[in-house]
Amino acid sequence: MDYNIATIPGDGIGPEIMVQTLKVLEKIGKVYGHDFKFKECCGGGVAIDKYGEPLPEASFNICKDSDAILLGNIGGYKWKDLAVEKRPERVLFRLRGELNFCVNVRPIFIKDSLKNFSPLKDEIVEKGIDITVIRDITGGVLSSEKHTGEGEFGREAYDMEYYNEKIVSETAKWAFETARRRNKKVTSLDKANALVSSVLWRTVMKEVAKDYPDVELEHMYIDGCAMDVVKNPSNYDVIVAPNIFGDVISDEISGITGTVEILPSATIDMNGKGMFEPNQLHNTHYEIIGKDIANPIGLILSAALMLRYSFSLETEAKAIEKAVATAISSGYATKDIYYEGKKLVGTCEMGSIIADFIEL
Ligand code: IPM
Ligand code: MG
Repeated sequence: MDYNIATIPGDGIGPEIMVQTLKVLEKIGKVYGHDFKFKECCGGGVAIDKYGEPLPEASFNICKDSDAILLGNIGGYKWKDLAVEKRPERVLFRLRGELNFCVNVRPIFIKDSLKNFSPLKDEIVEKGIDITVIRDITGGVLSSEKHTGEGEFGREAYDMEYYNEKIVSETAKWAFETARRRNKKVTSLDKANALVSSVLWRTVMKEVAKDYPDVELEHMYIDGCAMDVVKNPSNYDVIVAPNIFGDVISDEISGITGTVEILPSATIDMNGKGMFEPNQLHNTHYEIIGKDIANPIGLILSAALMLRYSFSLETEAKAIEKAVATAISSGYATKDIYYEGKKLVGTCEMGSIIADFIEL
């Protein structure tokens, strides 16, 4: 079958890791008989420099008409002083909003041979870290009404924390469906002791939970969870959270693995169509651009999520995940996951090694 994929290599190390990801997908196509058609489009800071806007219309249309989008990297120091609405990150907000992408899925895990990278104590890490964070991306303070102006006390600004039951129930369904395929536990985060939007969030979570009697639902306040998850990460399976809480907690949990560059991310609509980008999509790594040092695994594993969610190609998704696991357990490591005894490889070689491990 044919699949049309829009690619936005973007900024920083994005272009380099994109090349390796397409290499791996081409191998999948060859082995499993699929035709992946890639259309590259300009987006991010590079598009601001070239066209004066982060996501030109031509790029947006390619994304809109494609079956899925792969995104390498967004942002950088060069554009950090631009107004919020002109920054490279608008690419994310525009695609999320206008293509009806509603949830962000971040699988966060630690691989056995990389456990020593975690900043946590051995006895905690030994129990493993394997958590999927499901974050709403259409509501909340990041995506609702904004205001900047003059008030009684001078300049003022606000971002509204807006939720409705449609947004919460869609996010809840993704969380419960995900937990059903995993360890059947959902931890829902909110601040229901202070925010009415969180009271609604908690209420709707409980309502949706009735359709999933096989899945355990627990509620935690975001601040309490932020403290507990570093002490007891193995107690968590699926974490579901409003936009900004999910943004922060997913970075916190990624950080405690110590190997953020291997983590993927998926931004999808209710049918699984979406945009797939590394977990650290805004970590542009300017100091290593073009040096063949960057780790392409985050985006390669995001491509696996694309096969799974957008194209329902579970076998092929697993083939990529297995090839990555084999590359890591065989000791191949880019600089960020290297330690003595490992085989140090560059970006390009890592891509080739993973592609070579893909088999029927
Ligand atoms: C993420 C990022 C983005 C977000 C930024 C770059 C706007 O942090 O995807 O987590 O907050 O959504
Ligand atoms: Mg973030």
